[in-house]
Amino acid sequence: MIIDGKKEAEILRQEIKKEINSIKSKNKAPGLTVILIGDYLPSQIYVKNKEKSAKEVGINSDVVRYSKDVQEIEVLKKIEDLNNDSSISGILVQLPLPPQINKEKIINAISPKKDVDGFHPINVGNLSSGYSAIAPCTPLGCLYLIKKVEKNLSGKHAVIIGRSNLNGKPMAQLLLNENCTVTIVHTKTKELKNECLKADILVAAVGVAKLVKEDWVKKNSIVIDVGINKVGNKIVGDVDFETVKVKTKAITPVPGGVGPMTIACLLKNTLDCFKAR
Ligand code: GUN
Repeated sequence: MIIDGKKEAEILRQEIKKEINSIKSKNKAPGLTVILIGDYLPSQIYVKNKEKSAKEVGINSDVVRYSKDVQEIEVLKKIEDLNNDSSISGILVQLPLPPQINKEKIINAISPKKDVDGFHPINVGNLSSGYSAIAPCTPLGCLYLIKKVEKNLSGKHAVIIGRSNLNGKPMAQLLLNENCTVTIVHTKTKELKNECLKADILVAAVGVAKLVKEDWVKKNSIVIDVGINKVGNKIVGDVDFETVKVKTKAITPVPGGVGPMTIACLLKNTLDCFKAR
């Protein structure tokens, strides 16, 4: 089975749209502000897509743009204003940031209640404690797709390749909360292939094109590919899709797998922040 992330994202967006429509009839709507600093092309594209998708489901969305040499204090002041603005439900500062801007300071400045990325230490801590938390959008999207294939994940062995704050670590927490046995493997892991072979659920989030080969994957496993790697003019994942797919129970393609779910989960987080307030 090839998991259709585009279709699943569309279903989720329709659900969100329906819920926002029913709220809007009471004259309220969620608001999302994205802060974009500099002219890094992939960020420009991501932000454009986020703004478009937000508007399509009825979220009031706005992008605040700064040049790449903006001072940190100016961005912090903007975040403070947005924290205090009751019409704003969610704030997202697009990463990466230019060198004069301290990522940690920026993430810590966003109100945890408006942190739709789920990057604030309060949300990270709540997620790892198994309390209610805003979880990062990409791993949330991965979990959503995994659960479409298999509802009960209890006792499953999940292996995550990559330990980033954006993907690997929150993915591990989400799967632990589902009672999986979780292994995180990374660049210093010995026996990488043998660890992957134990996985009922394998999540690849390292950014190495086609790293995961057919002989790394257990038969009938679920394989989720978070990678977006440019090889020539093509975008490929961290999994060698064509050879791996024949062994799996379900697998996500790149593009059209996890990617569309990330934005849909951002909309979901924005709606959840709105409802919580
Ligand atoms: N840059 C790449 N992915 C992300 C993301 O999920 N959130 C933010 N804020 N920046 C990113």
